[in-house]
Amino acid sequence: MTQAEFARFSEFIIGQCGIKMPPSKKIMLEARLQKRLRALGVPSYGEYYRYIHSESGRGELVHMLDAVTTNKTDFFREPIHFQYLAKTILPEVLSEQEGSKRRGSPLFLWSAGCSTGEEPYTLAMVLSEFAHQHPTLRFSIMATDISTKVLDRARDGIYDEDRIAAVPDALKQRYLLRSRDRGRNLVRIVPELRAAVQFKRLNLMEESFSFSEPLDVIFCRNVIIYFDRSTQERLISRFCRVLRPDGYLFLGHSESVHGFDLPLRRITSTVYRKIG
Ligand SMILES: C[S@@+](CC[C@H](N)C(=O)[O-])C[C@H]1O[C@@H](n2cnc3c(N)ncnc32)[C@H](O)[C@@H]1O
Repeated sequence: MTQAEFARFSEFIIGQCGIKMPPSKKIMLEARLQKRLRALGVPSYGEYYRYIHSESGRGELVHMLDAVTTNKTDFFREPIHFQYLAKTILPEVLSEQEGSKRRGSPLFLWSAGCSTGEEPYTLAMVLSEFAHQHPTLRFSIMATDISTKVLDRARDGIYDEDRIAAVPDALKQRYLLRSRDRGRNLVRIVPELRAAVQFKRLNLMEESFSFSEPLDVIFCRNVIIYFDRSTQERLISRFCRVLRPDGYLFLGHSESVHGFDLPLRRITSTVYRKIG
């Protein structure tokens, strides 16, 4: 890939999905796009660029975005967030709901940039456990990503056994089914938990995403790290628009809203609350 081609791809990618491609990512981008070139039998990066901008190459954009996104994730990643949710936020929400108009109305959560589903299924486990103790709690989890490839895997809810080490044993027993084929070392999320999460493709760069209800909790972790500062600020201001007053935003451990002029206050490390 020539420098000029790399510059063209970087500009195109940042415009499509916000992911910045500094020069240090050139080798990575070449390797990832190489797979698409091979799959399509396209001989060069220049040809591929032209193809993706042509009428016949329109459908290729989805595959290119699949290829350029980084999808690393885990069950109970950054576990302190799930402890905070279960021990502090959920009891607080429940007591706020008591005696208010919102009593018994579901809690709306969004896992934005959900990758292969480990994050929203972890949320579903934590909320189901809480709801078991407090049956008045109802919840709905929306999980979105730009990559169709990871969404397909998330919907299937099938994982290698070595991916579930961080899931506590009691939760493994309740929420994971072992494959009957012992040789394959696979587990599947139980149907009730799969039904608790709706997966949908959504590009966070869309200016106008909206939800039918104001959201109580947004998890957007290890996503904005790939965006530049102005893209981060615009996205988080859109999050503020769809969050309910006093709703919560969780970011990844190396992300923050520091320096942004937004109606959020930090309540603990990487957890924010919308100013009501
Ligand atoms: C590193 S994964 C993080 C997964 C999970 N949130 C976690 O912390 O484990 C980042 C995800 O963000 C998604 N992503 C990147 N840019 C996006 C965009 N513009 N719109 C929606 N999702 C995006 C990627 O496809 C990827 O699956």
